[in-house]
Amino acid sequence: APLKTLNTFGLDARAAHFCRLEHQDDLPALLDSEPYRQGPVLWLGGGSNLLFTRDHPGLVVQVALSGRRLIADQGDSVVVEAAAGENWHQWVQYTLAQGWFGLENLSLIPGSVGACPVQNIGAYGVEVKDTLCEVICADLADSGRLVSLSNADCAFGYRDSLFKHEGGQRYLVCAVRFRLSRTPSLKTGYGDIERELQSMPSWPAPTPLDVSQAVVNIRSAKLPDPRKLGNAGSFFKNPVVPQADADALAARYPALPRYPAGNGQCKLAAGWLIEQSGFKGFRQGDAGVHERQALVLVNHGSASGREIRALAQAIQDEVERRFGVRLAPEPVII
Ligand code: EPU
Repeated sequence: APLKTLNTFGLDARAAHFCRLEHQDDLPALLDSEPYRQGPVLWLGGGSNLLFTRDHPGLVVQVALSGRRLIADQGDSVVVEAAAGENWHQWVQYTLAQGWFGLENLSLIPGSVGACPVQNIGAYGVEVKDTLCEVICADLADSGRLVSLSNADCAFGYRDSLFKHEGGQRYLVCAVRFRLSRTPSLKTGYGDIERELQSMPSWPAPTPLDVSQAVVNIRSAKLPDPRKLGNAGSFFKNPVVPQADADALAARYPALPRYPAGNGQCKLAAGWLIEQSGFKGFRQGDAGVHERQALVLVNHGSASGREIRALAQAIQDEVERRFGVRLAPEPVII
């Protein structure tokens, strides 16, 4: 089966076997099927955090579980659930329309709800771990029995969770529960949000919907729309280094953006390091670096996953040569 339309890089890869999981009840039969038993199995959500450098020799399952529901209404706060196959941005818009606040800064992030805990998606000063209260998973080591993992169980970190490590092979995310608030609590401190809000008619009394719109405006201006230009969002994580290393670098490069990351650590802006290394807007065949955000690698048309990976490696080498920092890719490379 062709996977080109199922990954936001638009890469031409094929799977030996493919199926869509639309109903939870179909999971036992799937786990019992021949292609599943033979493996290898790749669970696919929105395909927005993947780089295929080859075909998949086994089974690809697109998780297309749907549904949204109110689990508990506790007056000022609600617990709400979305199934893994729901589109992330539509889910965010739906919660805002109900008057349930907390996800507004995470507007317009590509992908599905099921992927959000895996890399603890984050943007504009908010991470999914801030409102996520539970992840309902199928335990693949126990015939797909449904289990609930708490926020603490998920071991969230910056673009990191249990699901990126030992939990990745074991747990299939089926649904995610969030605790959202009816009382707005706006986070507008990051980057250009405040400036964007000031240009809106509601200023100086912005609502969560305005914050969402501000994020949509900023993201659309900077980040390429995967439907028009293949990409997987940030291709590298922002590196976290010891404070002493960051200070030494800042002495040489006074403009170096850096943010405290706790525990004597400091987070650097990978986009800045890449831009300073001369790669912003760079293009090698159809593999390129986005012209407005150096952290995003793009497929201008018919790049292969290998070409994109080669470009990523060239960037890693050059950034390391100049700054002594090795960037780590964010997407899953297959
Ligand atoms: N910068 C440059 N050149 C660039 C890009 C960035 O100099 O080409 C500098 C900016 O001037 C700024 C700093 O880097 O000083 C940070 O830039 P920005 O606020 O655009 O955010 P980012 O660190 O590049 C991260 C996330 C994004 C998220 C934004 C906003 C990671 C890996 N990326 O990017 O997440 O939308 O912050 O919160 O943490 C994603 O994960 O796919 C993603 C897009």
